[in-house]
Amino acid sequence: MKHFLSLADWSADELWQLIESAVQLKQEWQQAGGNPPLLKNKLLAMVFQKPSLRTRVSFEVGMKHLGGDALMLGPDEIGLGQRESIADVARVLSGYVQGIMARVFDHQQVIQLAQWASVPVINGLSDAEHPCQAMGDTLTIYERFGRVKGLRLAYIGDGNNVAISLAQASAHFGMHFVIASPQGYELPAAVVSQFNQLAARSGSGATITLLRDPAEAATGADVIYTDTWVSMGQEAETAARVAVMQPYQVNTSLLGYASRDVIVMHCLPAHRGQEITNEVADGPHSAIFQQAENRLHAQKAILAKLMAS
Ligand code: CP
Ligand code: NVA
Repeated sequence: MKHFLSLADWSADELWQLIESAVQLKQEWQQAGGNPPLLKNKLLAMVFQKPSLRTRVSFEVGMKHLGGDALMLGPDEIGLGQRESIADVARVLSGYVQGIMARVFDHQQVIQLAQWASVPVINGLSDAEHPCQAMGDTLTIYERFGRVKGLRLAYIGDGNNVAISLAQASAHFGMHFVIASPQGYELPAAVVSQFNQLAARSGSGATITLLRDPAEAATGADVIYTDTWVSMGQEAETAARVAVMQPYQVNTSLLGYASRDVIVMHCLPAHRGQEITNEVADGPHSAIFQQAENRLHAQKAILAKLMAS
């Protein structure tokens, strides 16, 4: 049985098949009257320890598009690892549903869920990774450019969960991943060595560059990507983070360094006026709402792959 916990667990070929499947499911849904009921009578449990708009809605809608259904288990409901052990939650849920999607703080908790569940487990964001986001983002980049390989993706800001999954996607698919972060907020060293291993394994030609200067990172970029300076769970660090990240705002002046056809991406929710300006988020280069929609199409491919009989 396969889980979807980290892009590093999957091969580049398998992940690209999911992108192709997402393209087909999107086309079917939008232009051919709908998708076949690949997940008829199947249920997905959605376990959330943190808030969500996109992940929660796109998984539920995706299950319904494929003939199945989903149920929401919010932060106050099951007390994952508190009211009940993760091992027990995983085994109980496995008796009711055919898949589990979980959004957790500690990445080890999705790993533990997968160890104990007898149904597939999907990581809907942990403190360490956001693999479903990176799949939707890859689909968006592919739609915009007609290719992914060889593009320069500049990530501006915190080397967080979203940055880590994007780096893994870049390694698999051959993007040149350049990240500019302030001191103390760099991509973890382990992610850099993992990047080089994944790129070598797939022969994608991807490269990774860690920089301090956002303008240098943005220079010649095809994609400029940013995310919040304060991820869920880091609220106590807000003042320090916002102070140190000020030079890392994605604004019109930063876009001036990029390729003429640059697209700007943000996983959302955005803190307009902090990591991104309104002018850029709502401007002609912005891909943020296409990107949000593509969470749905990419996840339908993941759900079908993991849960269809
Ligand atoms: N991008 C994303 O995962 O959004 P939500 O936190 O709203 O699910
Ligand atoms: N890095 C952000 C992403 C939100 C979708 C967080 O973890 O809060």
